[in-house]
Amino acid sequence: MQYELWILRQDSPESTPYRQCIPFETDDPQMTAATALTQINETPGITDSEGNPVQPIRWECSCLQKKCGACAMRINGVPRLACDAKLAECAKKGRITLEPLRKFPVVADLICDRSVLMKNLHLLQIWFEAETKADETVGDLTYDAARCLQCGCCLEVCPNFYADGDFYGMSGLLPAARLLTALPDIQKHALHRACRAHLYEGCGKSLACRNICPAGIDIDRLLVNSNAAAVWKRRMAKKKREKSR
Ligand code: SF4
Ligand code: SF4
Ligand code: FES
Repeated sequence: MQYELWILRQDSPESTPYRQCIPFETDDPQMTAATALTQINETPGITDSEGNPVQPIRWECSCLQKKCGACAMRINGVPRLACDAKLAECAKKGRITLEPLRKFPVVADLICDRSVLMKNLHLLQIWFEAETKADETVGDLTYDAARCLQCGCCLEVCPNFYADGDFYGMSGLLPAARLLTALPDIQKHALHRACRAHLYEGCGKSLACRNICPAGIDIDRLLVNSNAAAVWKRRMAKKKREKSR
């Protein structure tokens, strides 16, 4: 099968992006966009569809097994992992567009700077400061939340997330939801405050992120549970105030 890979390229963060068509041929029905990019870059003397020499395509990958989130990009307009995108399934009449994620600054070609994800987790202070005990009653929920790859695909489709905004999106909510079940009370309260400011209040519950997660995380259920936790906490605080009157 002959494919046309239309790649949105950018030489540096400041330069103007341009599209380039690179032909690619394979008989392998399992061939992914990630493997195609690897093979193209390994070809001596890469050329575009008009035979002009082109530079290797810059993109990120690590595990090639849908485990690290590094290879997230827009494939035919949909944010997804390149190592999980089979050419045979996502091509339209043999044509595939590869673009960097749009919500983050582009570094070069398909590489973008997603460091804001880690920065936001740091601002939420998502770490243990004292001994903790796992809450077995919410084990499957915390396990599900722990599968987040921090790939950013959900943020790409979220109408409320901007890289420098106050709302941290689903990739912030999931690690927070995981820790909220295990943190000692004093740290839990601080995290609840941070979650209210940067997660609960900013999420419009549009669920645009529901079907996009490459890890298959049950986002509906986590949202329902985090909302329930927030409502429960407000009720408990109200009860406490009423008692002390
Ligand atoms: S439910 Fe909507 S607003 Fe909330 S994180 Fe998902 S896409 Fe964003
Ligand atoms: S919730 Fe899913 S889509 Fe969003 S960052 Fe985590 S793994 Fe990626
Ligand atoms: S390379 Fe790790 S998820 Fe694709």
